[in-house]
Amino acid sequence: MNSVAVVTGGASGLGLAVVNRFVEEGFAVAIVDISEEKGAVMAKQLSDQGKNVYFFHADVSKQENAKQVANRIKQELGSIDILVNAAGIIHRTKSVDLTEEKLKKLLDINLNGTVFMSQAVQPHMSLSGGGAIVNFGSMLAHYGSKNLLAYAASKGAVIQITKCLAVDWAQFNIRVNAVSPGYIETPLASGATQNPVFRERVLSKTPQNRFGTPDEVAVAIHFLCSKDASFITGVDLPIDGGLLAGDPSLFPPAS
Ligand SMILES: NC(=O)c1ccc[n+]([C@@H]2O[C@H](COP(=O)([O-])OP(=O)(O)OC[C@H]3O[C@@H](n4cnc5c(N)ncnc54)[C@H](O)[C@@H]3O)[C@@H](O)[C@H]2O)c1
Repeated sequence: MNSVAVVTGGASGLGLAVVNRFVEEGFAVAIVDISEEKGAVMAKQLSDQGKNVYFFHADVSKQENAKQVANRIKQELGSIDILVNAAGIIHRTKSVDLTEEKLKKLLDINLNGTVFMSQAVQPHMSLSGGGAIVNFGSMLAHYGSKNLLAYAASKGAVIQITKCLAVDWAQFNIRVNAVSPGYIETPLASGATQNPVFRERVLSKTPQNRFGTPDEVAVAIHFLCSKDASFITGVDLPIDGGLLAGDPSLFPPAS
């Protein structure tokens, strides 16, 4: 039987790239997404090509929903070996205008959803001898920012969740890591990557002078979940073309 990878937010963007990567590596993949429309279409397209992909509708921000969907996946696909928590949203607003409703909604999905899905798979992974979880941080877990207070707070918390679960669940042979992508061209980041002025500004501050591709993120996640990463747990891997390493535009040319 194939190993099973569960990818939340797998209907779009980086989650979808992760789905494709794990399918190519021979996994059965469960897409867990709140968008029934996108998720079902994606899973059908891939399974029509003979790929082992299944759609499970769930809102990861609801603890009971997360538990139920993990139980269904275990029952229908036989095991849960990998969890990638890619479901997430972004909200741009001035800090002073951030409403209670928007702040709660964002934390419910990005932060609570990561906790709830991890809790939901833990018993299944433990019973089968272990597993690997990868969470989505962001460069905004590390950088302060204007207009992204809620998002940055949620991603900072995801890094701490990653470390806490890595410490806690090593006893079950479950490794927990995070990735922190910089600017990757997906629908979520299009507000930044499609704006010509902003685009140029970001590129000038990125040592590799380009945006990343979803597959460059997916490959790194596959590595973190693989046996090759068997002694790696509790880390946060930036995938950002050097953005967090330093700003090349701050330094004058060599004399
Ligand atoms: N794109 C980037 O540049 C970038 C950079 C850093 C981090 N990230 C993070 O990567 C992750 C994926 O981002 P993306 O760019 O692929 O976004 P995306 O908008 O393309 O995909 C997000 C997916 O999550 C799903 N989703 C939203 N709320 C959900 C819920 N409550 N329950 C289940 N599914 C839900 C959406 O339906 C969608 O399919 C996010 O956590 C994001 O914060 C993205």
